[in-house]
Amino acid sequence: MSNNYAIILAAGKGTRMKSNLYKVLHLVCGKPMIQHVVDQVTALNFDQVITVVGHGADVVKETLGDQVSYKVQAEQLGTGHAVQQAEDLLFDKEGTTLVICGDTPLIRTETIDALLQFHEQEHAKATILTTHTEQPTGYGRIIRHDAGHVERIVEEKDANAQEKAVQEINTGTYCFDNKALFAALASVNNHNTQGEYYLPDVIEILQKQGEIVAAYQTLDFDETLGVNDRIALSKAEAIMKKRVNQAHMKNGVTLIDPEQTYISAGTVIGQDTVIYPGTMLTGEVTIGEACTIGPNTEIKDSVIGNETVVRQSVIFDSEVGNSVNIGPFAHIRPSSVLGDNTKIGNFVEVKKAKFGAGSKASHLSYIGDADIGSNVNLGCGSITVNYDGTNKHVTKVGDNAFVGCNANLIAPVTIGEGGYVAAGSTITDDIPNDSLSIARARQVNKDGYMARNK
Ligand code: UD1
Ligand code: CA
Repeated sequence: MSNNYAIILAAGKGTRMKSNLYKVLHLVCGKPMIQHVVDQVTALNFDQVITVVGHGADVVKETLGDQVSYKVQAEQLGTGHAVQQAEDLLFDKEGTTLVICGDTPLIRTETIDALLQFHEQEHAKATILTTHTEQPTGYGRIIRHDAGHVERIVEEKDANAQEKAVQEINTGTYCFDNKALFAALASVNNHNTQGEYYLPDVIEILQKQGEIVAAYQTLDFDETLGVNDRIALSKAEAIMKKRVNQAHMKNGVTLIDPEQTYISAGTVIGQDTVIYPGTMLTGEVTIGEACTIGPNTEIKDSVIGNETVVRQSVIFDSEVGNSVNIGPFAHIRPSSVLGDNTKIGNFVEVKKAKFGAGSKASHLSYIGDADIGSNVNLGCGSITVNYDGTNKHVTKVGDNAFVGCNANLIAPVTIGEGGYVAAGSTITDDIPNDSLSIARARQVNKDGYMARNK
């Protein structure tokens, strides 16, 4: 593709969202709306993609980085005015310019591509992506001549009753002959209910000049949903969720109940993994093959190997190896690394701890700021006493060590390789390799004591 440019409009505040977060940064399946649009647009190799930013410009730029270039619209005077901000970058270019809104997260590359092709085929100066809906409220309506040609677009707030009844809407995505676009924008005024410079007014201007204005109607209204408020946001979420879940199922992942499974757009899942209901995978999650995840499990920004089982548990910002067994009711907190064949069982909390291959904490433990070697057994109730009220300290446990039940390991402390901690010990000093350590008061039995005191 050559001589194709794209402008993404994202300067609006999104007043109807009633939010401190800028509209285009609201998440749909865990990914900012604007990122969805950028991903679909950049898949088409445009010569240049320009995002017009205004409200929250810095945060939007930080989110998108250098995937696109930017123009700032300091004052939001309307969509036409927003497009004009890109004029100094594009005014002298021959070619086609796509304009798309940052608040239509469901739009797909295939549809944008079809629109571009239709535009070319019709030799049009402008082609609008339209769709049909029985609930057109809020959208600009497509007003056609008796002969069927597009005449203009009228905004909801400027429409009369007859125009409001029109069910063909402007999706907010268009293709223009680049030079014709900027020439026409120069004569757009703000004489309308909202006092804004409307981009759709370019259509009427070009049409009156006798230019060809075309409309490409997509059958999928869902894809063109514009998110202006939280109700539309929840609709977008539901549609995207279905799309994401179906893609995983097509790739060989079993979702026992897709309705009750929430998978972020940034998640990768291997074949033959089975996901039980109530599972939420958020942020960037990678799960290997043949894993069992859930029910009722939350995993965020983590990597899980193959054949690992995670039941009723929470994992944040961590790395989990192959054939690991987690849960039920385990909490793996950030910066934990669990090696292959490890086991983190019932009511075990792990934080910033590394477990070497084959190590286990099967029941009722807190293991934080720890470096656990391989084939270590941390008995029921093992606790790393990592915090002295001011600072955190590290516990090190060597390979093949055994920690008996209900032991306190008071950090900083090191248990040597093959070391053995007797149950109930409170360990304050380092233990040499292959040594047994007992740190508890000796038991005293008082013969006949109970009988005497009856
Ligand atoms: C717009 C269209 C409407 C169409 C609908 C599709 C206009 C006047 N109306 O209405 O015909 O049916 O989209 O969803 O274009 N923006 C800027 N700068 C501005 C104003 C808006 O960058 O000064 C951006 C917004 O951030 C948003 C996009 O443009 O991403 C659309 O603006 P919005 O206010 O949501 O327009 P709608 O009322 O939805
Ligand atoms: Ca909108």
